[in-house]
Parts: sequence; C-alpha cells; structure tokens
Amino acid sequence: MTAAPAAEFSKGLVGVVAAQTALSSVDGQNGVLTYLGINIHDLAGRAGFEEIVYLLWHGKLPEADELAAFKQDLAAARELPPDVIELLRAVPKEAVPMAVLRTAVSALAFSDPEVEDISIEATRRKGVRLTAQIPTIVAAFGRLRRDLEPVAPRADLGHAANFLYTLNGQEADPLKARSLDLYLVLLADHSLNASTFTVRVVASTNADLHTATTAALSALKGNLHGGAAEGTMRMLLEIGSVEKVDGYVAGAFARRQKIMGIGHRIYKTGDPRTGHLLEWARKLEQAEGKGGQYVDMAKEVEQSVQRHRQLYPNVDFFSAPLLYYIGIPLDLFTCVFAVSRIAGWTAHVIEQYKDDTLIRPAAQYIGPKEQSYVPVTDRK
Ligand SMILES: CC(C)(COP(=O)(O)OP(=O)(O)OC[C@H]1O[C@@H](n2cnc3c(N)ncnc32)[C@H](O)[C@@H]1OP(=O)(O)O)[C@@H](O)C(=O)NCCC(=O)NCCS
Repeated sequence: MTAAPAAEFSKGLVGVVAAQTALSSVDGQNGVLTYLGINIHDLAGRAGFEEIVYLLWHGKLPEADELAAFKQDLAAARELPPDVIELLRAVPKEAVPMAVLRTAVSALAFSDPEVEDISIEATRRKGVRLTAQIPTIVAAFGRLRRDLEPVAPRADLGHAANFLYTLNGQEADPLKARSLDLYLVLLADHSLNASTFTVRVVASTNADLHTATTAALSALKGNLHGGAAEGTMRMLLEIGSVEKVDGYVAGAFARRQKIMGIGHRIYKTGDPRTGHLLEWARKLEQAEGKGGQYVDMAKEVEQSVQRHRQLYPNVDFFSAPLLYYIGIPLDLFTCVFAVSRIAGWTAHVIEQYKDDTLIRPAAQYIGPKEQSYVPVTDRK
C-alpha cells in the first residue's frame, strides 16, 4: 500500500473516516440508523436478537429454517468450560463486573478449539461461542458474588430470556424478556464507535476474535462509552425526584460536569434508538405500578438539559430505566451492553479480516526538537 499524503490532525478523530463498513450506517444529521440498509425503526419490536446477529454475520435476514438452526447453535454453546467457572469462583466478590467479564473472555481463549484460526468460517463459529458464553459469564458472576450457585442455561429459552433465567434462577416475566430482547437488538451494532474501532484495530493485526473482544470490552468499559447507562441510573437515583431535576442539571452545567447519557459524537439532532427504549421503559415502569418515577425524571432531565444547550439523549439514557426495571443490577449494565455488542464486534472483525489492511494511523509530533543525549553521569 502506498503512503497517503499527510492529513490534517483531528483531535479525537472527529470527522475522520477510518473504515468502510457494509454493516450499519449512522446518519447523524437526520438521526437515522440502519443495519444492512434496514431502518432500525423497522426492526425494533419486530426482529429478535438472534435474527439480527445472523443478519450482521451473514449479510442477509435468515429464512425460518436458518434462524431455527442458528438459535440452536447459540443455545448449544452457552455452557462455560470448567476452568472459566473456576476463575469466576476465584475472583473477589467485590470485583468490578466489567473487569471480571474482560478477564473471563480472555480466559475463554485458553480452551477454545479454534482460537488461533482467523479464517472467516472459524471466526463465525467462535462468534457463536462468544455470543452464547458472554451472558453465561455475566449471570454466573452476578450469582457467585451473592453466594448463589450458577444456574445451567436452558436451551429451550431464547437469548434474552435465558440470560435473565440464568441471572435470577427463575424464568423472567415475558415483558421483561421482550424488553431485554429489544434492547439487545437496538445495541447490536453502531458503525465505528470506540469499542468497534478498537476491535477493528486489533483484528487488523491478524489477532484472533477472543483477543479483539477482550480489547473491545476494555474500550466499552469507560463512562464516555458503555459505562454511561450505569452513570445515568446512578444520576437518576441521586436526583431522587422530578422537582430536583432542574437544580441538578443547572449545577452540572455550572461545574462543567458531563451529564451521563447525554450528547453524541455523531447524532446531532437525536438518536433514533431512544424513542423505543423510552416506550419500553414506560411499559415496564407501568407494569411495576411505579407511576412514572424514573422515566418521568429522565424525560425531565432531557428537557432541562435542552434549556441549557442543544444536546440530546443517547442510547444509554433511556437504557438506564429500562435495564433498571428489567431488574439488572446497576453495575451489570455495561456487561449487558457487551451481551449485545459482541454481535457487531464479531461482524466487524470478519469485515476487517476481509479488508486485510493494518490500521496504523500517523501522529503529529509536538515534542522537543533536536535534543542531544546526555549520559546519566553528566546530568544535573
Ligand atoms: C458522547 C460524548 C463523549 C461526545 O463527545 P463529543 O463529540 O466530544 O462532544 P461535543 O463536541 O459534541 O460536545 C459539544 C459541547 O457539548 C458539551 N457536552 C457534550 N456532552 C455533554 C454532556 N453529556 N453533558 C454536558 N455537556 C456536554 C461538551 O462539553 C462541549 O462543550 P464546549 O463546546 O463548551 O466545549 C459526550 O457527549 C459525553 O461525554 N456524553 C456523556 C457520556 C455518554 O453519555 N456517553 C455515551 C455516548 S453513546
């Protein structure tokens, strides 16, 4: 590959097009998200998570028999190898769940039969295993830290319902399982977000899917990315009532403190996923008989923010009350994001292998010029 002419430096890579993808497209001005050209509004509440994973990995919606076989493959791959269960038993109960997930995913590589095979077919098979095993890790640690034994996955349950079953030890209320399925669909892929860029950088060196996923989990963990939903819920709990929202928001702007779940690098007129999350969070809240508690508070935060600046909620904002009412512990929110995003990460790794080009940008040097080396004995 011949070297391109030097480009302008762009802090935070703002506006830089660093990859080509046929997976999802994000139109930030018009607030449009598509998976393989299908508008997210067409998919939300209609397509299931497994269908979306198939779409992203195979480039087409599955036919009924293909979907049934794919669901079976995923369900059959849910169990964890004994060494990973032992690892989960050994980590401190108070460990940060995203750190546990990151370490456990890395450990899954020890016994994966195809770990070093980076062919497209093997990567898809590893994607099946990782997509199936990540929820089992999250649920098992979620129980072990409460002195509860892990629950064996159930092959007769769908991806979302099985996750809630293994986390809680009992079958989930259907509305909660459907809401989680919707969440998983909405978060499955999102062009070149920070963790997906990370996964592609790692895959571009010909490293394997487990390695790339471990790196992606690291990028997802921060509160400017996947950690924002937990931050949003903690904020809502801290605010405590609708009446206190304005004061909280004004204080945050005065201190120049970022409000979690608000703002987006690409969406400048609103994130198309938020309406669906809001609608389903409301359904859950009403089913709990909670009369608009955190959903109304979140809507008030949205409006209060806009009285200060034209900033809109992002996907993590209404995910917060949604996950809260599903009954996910706050510190597992980012792990549940990963339960979904492994779909997109795997698809991007496959795309990157096909692209077969090392991602290695340039940096603008701004350090000292022309210094001489001074031996340590001569330094003062
Ligand atoms: C997502 C995020 C990192 C995007 O950052 P970005 O593209 O660099 O942000 P922008 O350049 O559009 O920000 C424009 C202005 O709005 C401010 N702003 C952006 N998000 C803000 C927020 N959540 N709260 C308060 N102010 C915010 C910025 O500080 C900046 O102010 P300035 O012009 O006075 O410097 C940022 O909005 C943020 O930190 N949000 C909170 C964390 C979050 O929800 N992350 C999940 C993202 S999906």
